[in-house]
Amino acid sequence: TLQAVIFDLDGVITDTAEYHYQAWKAIAAELGIPFTREFNENLKGVSRMDSLKLLLSQAETPVSYSDEELHQLADRKNKLYVELIGTITPADLLPGIAEFVADIRAAGLATGIASASKNAVAVLTRLGVMDRFDVIVDVTKLKNNKPDPEIFLTAAAQLGADPAACIGVEDAASGVEAIKAAGMFAVAIGQAEHFPHADIVLPGTSQLNFRELKLTFEG
Ligand code: BG6
Ligand code: MG
Repeated sequence: TLQAVIFDLDGVITDTAEYHYQAWKAIAAELGIPFTREFNENLKGVSRMDSLKLLLSQAETPVSYSDEELHQLADRKNKLYVELIGTITPADLLPGIAEFVADIRAAGLATGIASASKNAVAVLTRLGVMDRFDVIVDVTKLKNNKPDPEIFLTAAAQLGADPAACIGVEDAASGVEAIKAAGMFAVAIGQAEHFPHADIVLPGTSQLNFRELKLTFEG
């Protein structure tokens, strides 16, 4: 039986995926590198430095950057991002999330956050939902990025839950791969073509329904 639901943050709990996109787009524009929403799908769930490297790989004429330059670019992106998330309020929870999380907790199940973002606590604090999650995985303590299952397995272990008794919720292809590699049931939010391995794909968070999901999970 179901024990816990583990959430990605950016693009699932709130629309920070859009802020990450805007911040990277500004960096790409400065560098004269083409950057589309379609390409941005590849950056979802990917760490800050790996995202930067993917972005730089799109340059028409490849340029090599020193480690220091790479860190400066990553820091600039983060400053833009931190500025954007400064406007977040509890009204920025995505549709249906507050009720979905409340239903999970009312059923006595555990909730966790498995986000690759070093800004996760800042975002959850601004949203006013820190107390609705039993565990927020500290990404700085992990060795492997999504699609490695480490972050979801760590969340399950910290919650005292069996991975097979967990549902993971993600908006990134790399995140869905991580959930499946952890042996969990994967709920993807977005367009079905991005998530060939998800157990369920929902077009948006407002379609999250705990009662229905639990029935599907239990088969
Ligand atoms: C993930 C986002 O949650 O966190 C990525 O989907 C982002 O877009 C990553 O790059 C790292 O976030 P941060 O805030 O540490 O730069
Ligand atoms: Mg995400």
